[in-house]
Amino acid sequence: MTNSLTSLPGGTWPLGDSVVARFGYGAMQLAGPGVMGPPADHEGALAVLREVVELGVAHIDTSDAYGPRVTNELIRQALHPYPETLFIATKVGAIRDARGGWPTARRPEDLRRQIHATREALGIETLDLVYLRMGDAHGPQAGSLAEAFTTLVDLQKDGLIRHLGVSNVTAEQVGQAQTIAPIVSVQNMYNLAHRHDDALIDRLAAENIAYVPFFPLGGYSPLQSDALSAVAARLRSTPMAVALAWLLRRSPNILLIPGTSKVAHLRENVAGAGLSLADEDVARLDRIGR
Ligand SMILES: NC(=O)c1ccc[n+]([C@@H]2O[C@H](COP(=O)([O-])OP(=O)(O)OC[C@H]3O[C@@H](n4cnc5c(N)ncnc54)[C@H](OP(=O)(O)O)[C@@H]3O)[C@@H](O)[C@H]2O)c1
Repeated sequence: MTNSLTSLPGGTWPLGDSVVARFGYGAMQLAGPGVMGPPADHEGALAVLREVVELGVAHIDTSDAYGPRVTNELIRQALHPYPETLFIATKVGAIRDARGGWPTARRPEDLRRQIHATREALGIETLDLVYLRMGDAHGPQAGSLAEAFTTLVDLQKDGLIRHLGVSNVTAEQVGQAQTIAPIVSVQNMYNLAHRHDDALIDRLAAENIAYVPFFPLGGYSPLQSDALSAVAARLRSTPMAVALAWLLRRSPNILLIPGTSKVAHLRENVAGAGLSLADEDVARLDRIGR
């Protein structure tokens, strides 16, 4: 039997005109090595996605750049026709080159092509949430997002997108996007050890805008810290569980999208995020990234 949204750790958050569990799922790990090509275990990837829905997770984060196209096709194969409660967020602004690089592609015609490719691969008329991904592999880069963001606003007016967000952005770029159109979410790199966005998270919380940290578990290099290991040992848990529980505790507008290619890890992460942290644990963890 499928779990309900409210049975997941962290409760729920109103994402645009939907309500999602704060515990979501990032689908990037489902593609092949280097986020290129098909997964080694196709059936295993489908099983992860089915388990995501079975657990009551309603928010899946993806991109046409994953594979490219591979992750979106897996989502469609595993879950279409989609449950009404499912909320699929996607990102545009980068494509893939033959060597696995992530060149930016943010001209209006690039973005329109990516939106159409995403709708087709997912089998969705109107995408729930589209993030304009700025920056590059080194993180956010200063500069205007006006032309690219306005293109997405036009596509929203055409009925192809329900909600807009921005990703891999500076706080100034978030502000610039908000002068053009409302956003429901910001997706940037953030975790226990990388806390550059602390002030931005607090500002967005005050405005009821979601903040979705990517690399919540450290991404390609798992989070490592003596303090994190000590808290995990005291609670007879794992550093990953503590890292997720800390994020849920950090601010109510933080939505989790930890990535995994394994059903066992998905279940571990759901259970782990529900860990209860004492104030002394939080104080110790807070010192890691400060
Ligand atoms: N906006 C952007 O620019 C951007 C950039 C990067 C990522 N993202 C999004 O953010 C999501 C999350 O990031 P991410 O997946 O790269 O990094 P992550 O969630 O920080 O970590 C994923 C890594 O942790 C491992 N893992 C997960 N659960 C585990 C467990 N219980 N035990 C041991 N290992 C575990 C995974 O390996 P296994 O597969 O073996 O479990 C994978 O290697 C992505 O899926 C994607 O949707 C966005």
